Amino acid sequence: MGLHGEVTIPGDKSISHRAVMFGSLAKGTTEVTNFLQGADCLSTIGCFRKLGISIENTPERILIHGKGLHGLSAPDSTLDAGNSGTTTRLISGILAAQPFETTLTGDASIQKRPMRRIMEPLSMMGANITSINGNDCAPLHIKGAPLHAIHYHSKVASAQVKSAILLAGMYADEETKVTEPTISRNHSEIMLRTFGADVRTEGTTAIIKPQPVLTAQKINVPGDISSAAYFIAAGLCVPDSEILIKNVGINPTRDGILRVALAMGGNITLLNENHDGEPTADLLVKSSELHGITIEGDIIPTLIDEIPIINIMAAVAKGTTVIKDAAELKVKESNRIDVMVKNLSAMGAKITGTDDGMIIEGGSPLHGAYIQTHMDHRIAMSFAIAALFAEGETHIEDRELANISFPTFYQDLEKLQQ
Ligand code: S3P
Repeated sequence: MGLHGEVTIPGDKSISHRAVMFGSLAKGTTEVTNFLQGADCLSTIGCFRKLGISIENTPERILIHGKGLHGLSAPDSTLDAGNSGTTTRLISGILAAQPFETTLTGDASIQKRPMRRIMEPLSMMGANITSINGNDCAPLHIKGAPLHAIHYHSKVASAQVKSAILLAGMYADEETKVTEPTISRNHSEIMLRTFGADVRTEGTTAIIKPQPVLTAQKINVPGDISSAAYFIAAGLCVPDSEILIKNVGINPTRDGILRVALAMGGNITLLNENHDGEPTADLLVKSSELHGITIEGDIIPTLIDEIPIINIMAAVAKGTTVIKDAAELKVKESNRIDVMVKNLSAMGAKITGTDDGMIIEGGSPLHGAYIQTHMDHRIAMSFAIAALFAEGETHIEDRELANISFPTFYQDLEKLQQ
């Protein structure tokens, strides 16, 4: 039986984090609607409350009573970023400039993720930031300092690295610049500008002027394309399906999943496009015969979080899909090259891991398996979709990991199956 009906995707995770952070640093009360009530964004709220910001969280909206760029106060205990890399890395950029010391940690997955990438530039700016266990991972001890501007050339295209430096750059003595090999998601630049910061982009370089006055805003968060991706894949791959996915963010630095799905032969129509601020559209998705493609180069940062679900589409598609230039997959919530290879192989797919991606020979019938999620929400949700095409039962370990980024995932999927 096909999937049918409409689904409204919860708010974008990246944009929700930023709304809380920038709202806390702005003067006045920022109102956020369609905020993602996922565990990662709640970790960001928890951290800013500990830093002295009053945040009212109701189902309709959140209100952040910002105290200005210099209004945070020393927390009385360790900040806990939970499973969230965005919280850990972006808040480090802010803490690097505060006149107090903080300790920042997170769960077992966060404590394995590389933090040298932010420790290095923030130290160059003058902050004293150390990894307590000496392994370049959290827990981090951050002693803020007056910062000086740098022009940082990042080896990786990472919005988390870029944003940490831009946030620190607000407190620096002169213009701060970050150049990346390829442009990463630009939500910080867009939203900081909305709050009144002077941020501009020249090619792959983002530039911020110091000491802006951030002013409280009303932010309506668009639906998360990374969450929509599971239903795009399901709608395309489950025969006889037609679904409407409403209010999805289609920022060009995030829309690689759409470009890939279309290139694989997917039938997707964009409706009700809106280009005021962060662009959005409704997506009409119909079952399609997909074929394999090569995915590499500049498109990779625009779909980095969608590669697990693209792997599932590739396993169902005809022919070979090759994914290159995606070594960053190894340092996400899990090593997504290893974890995808292990789990998709367990379901009977032909997949080989490479140094910077994977090769998938599509079309082998999938069968149920026991899926090890390695504390990775995107692995859990990707295999919940794979299970729709598999013969027999699939057991997903810790399926409730979906709460990290998409709390209503299983209910929404069920609704489309009725
Ligand atoms: C994010 C940036 C990406 C992405 C992550 C969220 C953000 O990480 O994978 O899920 O909100 O800035 P990197 O910037 O480290 O690639």
